Formats: sequence, structure tokens, C-alpha cells
Amino acid sequence: MVNIAVLGYGTIGSGVVEVLKTNSDSIAKRAGDSIEVKYVLDLRDFPGDPIRDKVVHDINIILDDPEVLIVCEHMGGVEPAYTFVKNALLKGKSVVTSNKELVAKHGAELLNIAKERGLNFLFEASVGGGIPIIRPLNQSLTADEIMEITGILNGTTNYILSKMSDEGVDFDTALAEAQKLGFAERNPEADVEGHDACRKIAILSSLAFGMQVDFEDIYTEGITKISDIDIRYAKALGARIKLFASSIREDEQVYAMVAPVMIRADHPLYSVNNVFNGIFVKGNVIGDVMFYGSGAGKLPTASAVVADVVDAAKHLNKNIWTIWSSKKLELTNIDRIQHRFFLRIKDNAKVKEQVAALFGQVEEVRAEGVSGEYAFITSDMTEQELNEKKSSLADVLSMIRVRF
Ligand code: HSE
Repeated sequence: MVNIAVLGYGTIGSGVVEVLKTNSDSIAKRAGDSIEVKYVLDLRDFPGDPIRDKVVHDINIILDDPEVLIVCEHMGGVEPAYTFVKNALLKGKSVVTSNKELVAKHGAELLNIAKERGLNFLFEASVGGGIPIIRPLNQSLTADEIMEITGILNGTTNYILSKMSDEGVDFDTALAEAQKLGFAERNPEADVEGHDACRKIAILSSLAFGMQVDFEDIYTEGITKISDIDIRYAKALGARIKLFASSIREDEQVYAMVAPVMIRADHPLYSVNNVFNGIFVKGNVIGDVMFYGSGAGKLPTASAVVADVVDAAKHLNKNIWTIWSSKKLELTNIDRIQHRFFLRIKDNAKVKEQVAALFGQVEEVRAEGVSGEYAFITSDMTEQELNEKKSSLADVLSMIRVRF
């Protein structure tokens, strides 16, 4: 029997206990032994819950118990998760986590501690919920140089944008639904301002390039400025608005950014809707690969966690090597990235003249029922050029990058 402890009995922690119970027989076969939850650490008690007798409030009970071989961390946030996880590794326990803030900030160090001690630090559930993406990057795409990773990495924002677009639901109602369904972070600002997607692309980039990509260096825009009017224009263009997290290698340099983009049906991520996530990876040998599945939610995320628990149980005392050096990868400034840009500005008598003088020929866009403004798509230009030209325009109502 392999004893584990679950830190945090919220959405994911309780999902892990549920998955271990539902599929106990097949999980035992695959792990080579049964997996038993010995402790659940939480600040709360859970009277009436089957795990009520396993609840402890002191991490030291878990750390000091040599029978606990694997610790699953689902508390979220950097502290106290970091201290608890580091101490668990130092006490000889492997760790599985779904905590992207922890992995993005301390992944390199925790992997190193695990490696030095013949243990494992596994974090499949930290990116893309139930979608296998960490293991493929570490184990399946190792023949390739990764040239690009572009993902819809946040289920909550994808759910909100899909509901706004497909059902005309307003932003706040869609967010409230995502919270009720257990997709959103405790502080949903992390979802809607793009910070969650930013941490996830930082993790994927660190693994893809084998060096530390600091999430603080990644240009990040969320979806809070996207209005129903933007969505009407997108529809008029046969496009959808998606929150993209991208990391692109060009001439030995890497750019990374998180921002809403307009895409059309010919883009591989166009049909990734609702809470689903999609991750597009381009390798220099394999070409294009896509990963798709439930990006958030109790059971999909718990499925990825339990798969890591099984892997850790199969590799007790044997480190699964992951290349993620703590050496920092300097990202290139996004100023040089080129796109087309969709712009909406307040209408005035001279608006077309002004736009033509600044941008040359543009593609005018009209949406039914929208008046008092002028919308257009520029030709390809760098972020820097766009910003210079945009600063000469008064009353810009919105700007969205275009990928078609
Ligand atoms: N809040 C996150 C999301 C949860 O919506 O994608 C999964 O990481």
C-alpha cells in the first residue's frame, strides 16, 4: 500500500479523493499497489464526510510520518504551499501539485531538490487541467526543438468569451457561472486579467526551452476590456475572440505574451470553446501537434493529479528527469512582434483622413447596430509601430490583435 496525504480539501483536493475511490481497482493495477489517503490537511473540519477522521490541521503530522510517501498539494498560492512542499521533499516524500503559482515561481528549485534525493516533483495538473501536456513536453517531444507553443490555457476566460459570443450572456453573469462550476480561481482577477494563463505559459516555456522563464517578464493582457461590441465586430468578421498565451522562438530568441486575439475558423484553436483548453505546439521535426480537453474543473484536474500519483508510486526512489534549469531565459521585448490590429475609435468628421494618414490603407469593419465609431484592421505592423500610431489617435475604444 502506498500512503499519500492531500493538502487542501477544496475543489481539486476533494476531486483527488473521489477519483482515487471511484477508480481504486484500475488505479491499483496501474500503480502496482493500492493508493491510500492517510491524511487530509485543511484548516476546516468536514463532519459527515468520509474523510473526516483523516483530517489534520498540522503539517508536521504528515511531514513526520515516514509512512507517507507522496504528498498532493492543492492549497493554491505560493505560501504556505512552497514551504510545505519543500519540507515534504526534504523529508523524502515525492510531491504532486496542481498549483501553477507554485510551479511557475519555484519549479526549477523543487525539481532540483527532488532530483538530488531520487524523488519526484510532478505537476501535470498545473497546466491545462486534465489535458496531458507536461508529460508530452518532457517525454514525447524530446526529439524536437520547440518553435512555438500557443494555448488557450484558461478555462474561465474561454467560458466567459464563449458565453458572451454564443449566448449573449454578459461578462459578470458568465463569470459567476464559471465560479459556480468550480472553474475560476478563488480570486477570479487571476483568470480575467490573464495572470493564470501567464503562469501556465511560463511553465510550458520553461519546460520547452529548459530554462527559467519568469512570468513577471511576460507581457499580459486579460479580457476585462473586451465588450459585447467587440464581439459583434468579431462576428461580422467571421471571427472569435480568444485569450491566447504564446511563446514563440525566432532566430534563437523567445517572445512570450498573453492577450486576446481574433481568429477565424482556419486557426486550429478556433473550435476550442467553453471551459475547454487547447494547446498548439510546433516542433522543428514533428511539425504541428494539438492537445485538447477540459482545462479546469474538479474531476478533469483530479484525473491529471491522480495520474501523477500513479507515476510517483511507480517511481518510488527513482527520479523522472525533467530539464528545467534555474538559469533565466531573457525574453525578447514584444515590440518587434508583428500582427494586424483591429481598432475601434470614436467617429468624427476627420476620422477616415486621420486613419489613412497614419495607417495607409486599412480594412474598414462594420457591425450591425453599432454607430458613432469607426472600426478597422491595419496591415501587418510591429507592436511598436502600432503603439506609436495609436498614441496620435484620440478616443481609441479598443484594440485587439488579429491572427488572420
Ligand atoms: N482557473 C483556472 C482556469 C483553473 O479557469 O483555467 C485551472 O487552472
